[in-house]
Amino acid sequence: MTSEQPLGRVLAVVSQKGGVGKTTTAVNLAAAFARKSLKTLIVDVDPQGAVRYGVGLRKGHPTVGFADYLRGSASLRDIILPTQLPWLRAMLVGSVNDADEHDDYSRRAAESPQLAQLLRVARERCHVVVVDTPPGLGGIVRAVLGLSQHVIVPLQCEPLALQTTPQILRGIQDALRTNDQLALEGVLLTMYQTGNSSSERTAQYIRQHLPQNLVFDIAIPRSVAAADAFAAGVPVVLRNPTDPAALAYMNLAGRLAEHFA
Ligand SMILES: Nc1ncnc2c1ncn2[C@@H]1O[C@H](COP(=O)(O)OP(=O)(O)O)[C@@H](O)[C@H]1O
Ligand SMILES: [Mg+2]
Repeated sequence: MTSEQPLGRVLAVVSQKGGVGKTTTAVNLAAAFARKSLKTLIVDVDPQGAVRYGVGLRKGHPTVGFADYLRGSASLRDIILPTQLPWLRAMLVGSVNDADEHDDYSRRAAESPQLAQLLRVARERCHVVVVDTPPGLGGIVRAVLGLSQHVIVPLQCEPLALQTTPQILRGIQDALRTNDQLALEGVLLTMYQTGNSSSERTAQYIRQHLPQNLVFDIAIPRSVAAADAFAAGVPVVLRNPTDPAALAYMNLAGRLAEHFA
C-alpha cells in the first residue's frame, strides 16, 4: 500500500477459553481475506504458538517471531514470513520456551511500545492484520484490544459456553471505553453440529440470551475437513474450499471485509 491509501484494519480474535476454535478462526479468516486479494498479515501473540502449525507456512520456514523481536534479537524483516498464498504473510510468536521466558514475554508484549509499533507498520503495508491471542483477558490481550479496530469472539457450541461469555464481553466493554476505534463485530459460534441436540440447544440458548446483533448469523460447522486441515498445517479454506466450515469462513470474511472500508 502507498502512503495515500488508508491504514489497514486490525482484527483481534479473542475468547475467555482455549480450545474454542480461536486459532482455526484466525488462520482461516486470514487465508480467506488473502483469497479475496486483501493483503493480509496474521500475527500470533499466543505463547502457545499454534498459528505456526495451521497457517500453511512454506517448508523449512524459520521459527523466529514476535517474542524474538521484543527481545531485540530479530528484526521485523526477519519475522514476517511468506506462506503458500501470495497475499498472506505470517508473524509467529517465536521462541517462548520455559516459564521465565514466558513471564518475560508476557510483560514485554503487554507493556513495551513494540506491539503498537509493529501493528502500525503492518497497517501501513496490509489491508488486514488478524491477531490470534492467548485465552483470557491478560495484559497481552488487553494491549491488543487497545490497538485493534475490530474484534470477534469465537464461542464453541458446547454446554459451558455461556458461562465464560459475560467475562470476555465485560473485558471488551472496558476496551471499547478506552479505544474509540474498536468495534465488537460479534460472537461467532464454532464447531456447530446440526442434528446434535446439545450443540443445537447451546446455539439456541446463546442466540436467545445475547442481543441479536451481537451473534453472527453465520456459524462455523464442526467438520472433519477443518480438523484434518489444521492437523495437516493448512487452513481448510485452502485445503478444502468447498467444505462447509471453509464456506462459512469465506462468507464471514466477506461480511467482515464490508466493514473494513
Ligand atoms: N470447525 C471445526 N471443526 C472441527 N474441528 C475444529 C473446528 N474448529 C476447531 N477445531 C479443532 O478444535 C481444536 C481447537 O481449535 P483451536 O482453533 O486450536 O482453538 P483455540 O485456538 O481456541 O485453542 C483443534 O484441534 C481444531 O482442529
Ligand atoms: Mg489457539
